[in-house]
Amino acid sequence: MAEAIRIFDTTLRDGEQSPGFTMNTQEKLEAARALAEMRVDVIEAGFPASSPGDLEGVQLIARDVRGPIIAGLARANRADIDAVVEAVRGAERPRIHTFIATSAIHMEHKLRMSPDQVYEASVEAVRYARRFVDDVEFSAEDASRSDPEFLCRVFDGVIAAGATTINVPDTVGYATPEEYARLLRLLRERIPGSDRVVWSVHCHNDLGLAVANSLAAVQAGARQVECTVNGIGERAGNASLEEIVMALHTRRNHYNLETRIDTTKIYRTSRLISAISGVPVQPNKAIVGDNAFAHEAGIHQHGVLMNRETYEIMTPETIGIPSNKLVLGKHSGRHAFKKVLEDHGLRLSEDEVHRAFQEFKALCDKKKQISIEDILSLVESQVRAAPQTFDLRAFHVSTGSTLPPMASVTLARGEVLFTEEASGDGPVDAMYNAINKIVGLCPTLADYAIKAVSGGTDAVGEATVKVRDGDGLFVGRGTSTDVVEASARAYLAAVNKILHERRRWTAAGTPDAPGGEGRGASADARRPQAGTTVSG
Ligand code: KIV
Ligand code: ZN
Repeated sequence: MAEAIRIFDTTLRDGEQSPGFTMNTQEKLEAARALAEMRVDVIEAGFPASSPGDLEGVQLIARDVRGPIIAGLARANRADIDAVVEAVRGAERPRIHTFIATSAIHMEHKLRMSPDQVYEASVEAVRYARRFVDDVEFSAEDASRSDPEFLCRVFDGVIAAGATTINVPDTVGYATPEEYARLLRLLRERIPGSDRVVWSVHCHNDLGLAVANSLAAVQAGARQVECTVNGIGERAGNASLEEIVMALHTRRNHYNLETRIDTTKIYRTSRLISAISGVPVQPNKAIVGDNAFAHEAGIHQHGVLMNRETYEIMTPETIGIPSNKLVLGKHSGRHAFKKVLEDHGLRLSEDEVHRAFQEFKALCDKKKQISIEDILSLVESQVRAAPQTFDLRAFHVSTGSTLPPMASVTLARGEVLFTEEASGDGPVDAMYNAINKIVGLCPTLADYAIKAVSGGTDAVGEATVKVRDGDGLFVGRGTSTDVVEASARAYLAAVNKILHERRRWTAAGTPDAPGGEGRGASADARRPQAGTTVSG
């Protein structure tokens, strides 16, 4: 029997520290549900002491998501641990994950603590956390650059204090596979209580070695791997979940280890995380990149046609890549449409199915053949977006080499219609200015991208925008066969998220922020400042 490797997903905590990454609490919940469906063993849902939003996100996930262990991160102090206790209270299987740095450079320059003080804080944190839960993980931040003697002392102390999982992070992505495996072996051999705990690894990708290091550590006895979907994370990212899982799966004869992951959920979870975070997947990304299963060279194509295994070591079906078969068209009925959504893992409410079907029918009027990619993109961008305060009803743009770009936009808020005109540096800019006039906001455009979802001249264009409002970054996506319309929809989706977030903070009683919420709007409020962040 192959031994099991636990997959500890930290997309919502370490991954969320990626530059340009942003998720609201509802999106985090949706991501956590997808992770649970993919059967990860542990979801690290956030760092509750870092901000009220993070605490709320962990709380929501702990109450709603069943199956995986739900962990929250805490520095080695009582206040942070109390915040995790509050956040994971509703979880079926709660875990407190506490950490402190153990390398000389971190202790001296960051913590300004002596090794003895770090030892005491570690042991005391674990002892305190065990008052609340049975499942306590301890991480020695920057372990790979720490003195192994000191690591042994600290790990010995926290195991005696009740830690059940011991994590050995390569926080700055400095280790090589041989060194890292040697460290794991040494710790497991030298620490008397080592077989009472699960050894865990957590690798960053600064030298592109995160996955190699994690796999080397697994061969040295680690039985939990911490990783993120698409490898997102601080700086160069974390070890990528899909690469670890598929390496263990594809090379199971070599590793003789297995995970509980349902590999057929990998692709859509990857797309979901990319869609809601606004962080695209690079085309040549292993396992989930657009080109991962594409064969361009004639000689490769020939080989694959004769026998797939000539150039394919795993099949796209194993990770759940939808075939690009044209699935639906103008005459397809609601039941067939719903079935296709379900077949691709989309569990929508009746109201969402209704809205998706209407959007689908509108698309059929513009495009003859609709692919599953078109439908998935449409559902993610137009149906699952934040509640729509404003709806795009009509627009008109005029532009040319001798004319200043002008746009007229009509938005609906409930039954009431608002129309405004504006000029801009281009047709999209003019549209955004007209939308700003209606909604009464002027967020900064931080990023804008457009791509074709499917092939052909009538391809669906998918626009992604990121806008900044105060210290919050909001992602919006929009699809249409008309790229100007897709751009307007994407911008409006982001604006609707800002309005939704402001209303939430108003309801939570946070202080009012300057500015209004556009016509017919109620009072608005500022998002609280993001709190302390955590390294690595
Ligand atoms: O990289 C790191 O050391 C971390 C710890 C907090 C586990 O993310
Ligand atoms: Zn980390």
